[in-house]
Amino acid sequence: MSETALSIKGLKIRYGAIEAVKGIDIDVREGQVVALLGANGAGKTSTLRTISGLTRAAEGSIEFFGQEITHMDAEKITKLGIVQSPEGRQIFRDLTVEENMKAGAFTVKDRAQVKANFERCYRYFPRLHERKTQMSYTLSGGELQMLAIARALMASPKLLLLDEPSLGLAPLVVRDIFAIIGEIKAEGTTVLIVEQNALQTLKIADYGYVLETGKNSIHGPASELIRDTRLVEAYLGTA
Ligand SMILES: Nc1ncnc2c1ncn2[C@@H]1O[C@H](COP(=O)(O)OP(=O)(O)OP(=O)(O)O)[C@@H](O)[C@H]1O
Ligand SMILES: [Mg+2]
Repeated sequence: MSETALSIKGLKIRYGAIEAVKGIDIDVREGQVVALLGANGAGKTSTLRTISGLTRAAEGSIEFFGQEITHMDAEKITKLGIVQSPEGRQIFRDLTVEENMKAGAFTVKDRAQVKANFERCYRYFPRLHERKTQMSYTLSGGELQMLAIARALMASPKLLLLDEPSLGLAPLVVRDIFAIIGEIKAEGTTVLIVEQNALQTLKIADYGYVLETGKNSIHGPASELIRDTRLVEAYLGTA
């Protein structure tokens, strides 16, 4: 059995009086793709942001390979190898594709590693290679999403956090993105992915958790969740 990369216990997240996440438990094993599913407002983004140190945990603990990271600052967490590719398209519009990717590698001091990361990203996304000198604001939605993932990969993540990488993309591009997430996993990067697209995500995932208004709902191996009637009714019915 592989090691536990990420272990979340009793995590609570509050925004003022609102308790958005009400004591959840999540484990991510090294080398796996784990899906975090749930309706709008379930607390998925809040959970990812708290893992990254961008949002503070109110209670509970988050450990990364046994090390407590619950109250660590975001940059330190990135240096440990947890890298989040943001929801939507938050990249530097006034930088070129290549400059954005280089910015993603700011924690990587080894130049040979930066070069290897560029090669890896361009192998996954040949389109970014073709457009490396292009200003990012001229990219299409799908290309921006690819750039967001590439920028995260440039930081040499041990654990890659993806928040809705397929959001707003055409079906063919969605298929490409999921295929690439499969390759990222095959090359040994652990992935925790938030998605609305439950069926396609479970097809590439090893394990899945469903959140329901800030609480754990069902969880289990992806192959079982795909056939779970409760999940099929709630999320997969129209897929
Ligand atoms: N900065 C904030 N201030 C106040 N409330 C917030 C803040 N961020 C999130 N919330 C609330 O916390 C709850 C969980 O939000 P979150 O963004 O984590 O959900 P989500 O599962 O990612 O939803 P979606 O699928 O719509 O992206 C929501 O009710 C939301 O309104
Ligand atoms: Mg969200």
